[in-house]
Amino acid sequence: MPDTSPDTAVAQFAPRLVAWQKSHGRHDLPWQQTRDAFRIWLSEIMLQQTQVATVIPYYARFLDEFPTLSDLAAAPLERVLELWAGLGYYARARNLHACAVAVQRQYGGEFPRQAARIAELPGIGRSTAAAIAAFAYGERGAILDGNVKRVLTRCFGVAGFPGSPKVEKALWQLAESLLPHGPGEIESYTQGIMDLGASLCSRSKPACAICPMHDLCVARREGRQAELPEGKPVKKAVPERHVTALILHDGARILVERRPPTGIWGGLLALPEVPEGDSPAALVSRLGLALESVEALPEVRHAFTHFRLFLTPLLCRVSSRPEVGEGGLEWLPAEDFARAALPAPLRKLLLKMPSPPWGKTGVS
Ligand code: ADE
Repeated sequence: MPDTSPDTAVAQFAPRLVAWQKSHGRHDLPWQQTRDAFRIWLSEIMLQQTQVATVIPYYARFLDEFPTLSDLAAAPLERVLELWAGLGYYARARNLHACAVAVQRQYGGEFPRQAARIAELPGIGRSTAAAIAAFAYGERGAILDGNVKRVLTRCFGVAGFPGSPKVEKALWQLAESLLPHGPGEIESYTQGIMDLGASLCSRSKPACAICPMHDLCVARREGRQAELPEGKPVKKAVPERHVTALILHDGARILVERRPPTGIWGGLLALPEVPEGDSPAALVSRLGLALESVEALPEVRHAFTHFRLFLTPLLCRVSSRPEVGEGGLEWLPAEDFARAALPAPLRKLLLKMPSPPWGKTGVS
């Protein structure tokens, strides 16, 4: 039986990847022939969201016009945008220019040597900073772009959506734990994991038969290549409850009812709700009140764990006041809105009303 324990897979990953990159990876890409952080940075920004073949001619044109970072920093943004035209995601071009200006001003035109400093610059995230520091300066650090997430979730059987903070955190930890220790290996390792993700470990037809991780890979062993990485969880449609509630007022007080002890807003004071299929006027008369005026207020929305409430408040001026406690209702004076046992969304709604006395039509 071959040893395919997780520890073996972790220990074997880097040596196999470095060996594979040396024999099967890419070595002749234009940005691989240099240790110049400016050139490496330019390639990494262009390669975010764009294929190698598309990038190559743009990369050459940029370097023709801006052979150094200082040239790029001194150029007008409009010229940078002209040269970028066709590559898409134009925020990248604006950030590219802003980054060149920042490196010129803060570091005299030389990229800082540590990934942590590089990551503070415009348009450079943690993964891109680590790639630049590895390729330019040999700094040992993990990268984690979309391709790398695919390689790692498959090889190590990582469940969950890789874009979620929890899974992403676990993947960064895993990526750090896999890094090679040998001198001069981080460059081949970093290029290798990019190359593996861009070639053999493709999204839809991974070439597992010729993959250096063939026997280690959880997805390959369990036939789950199509299931990993997992997709974004589909949000379940949350049920909606639409209700009409009445703010029955006599000019200075409103009628509230105490909710049953269990259920939504259990034991709290709430506005009387119009039962479905009923009319507000019918409820008002059932309560022994005479309706003098009605005004609809803006909808109140509130998210509960299992449903969303859309509550339309109707502001109703009523006369003929029932005694306290009648029909389960009680009068609540406006000055008690802040301290009464009201659910938060209703308290917020009521506290928005102006001070009484409220007029016959509306509250103004
Ligand atoms: N994608 C991102 N960085 C890359 C690199 N250095 N080589 C090839 N593809 C890449």
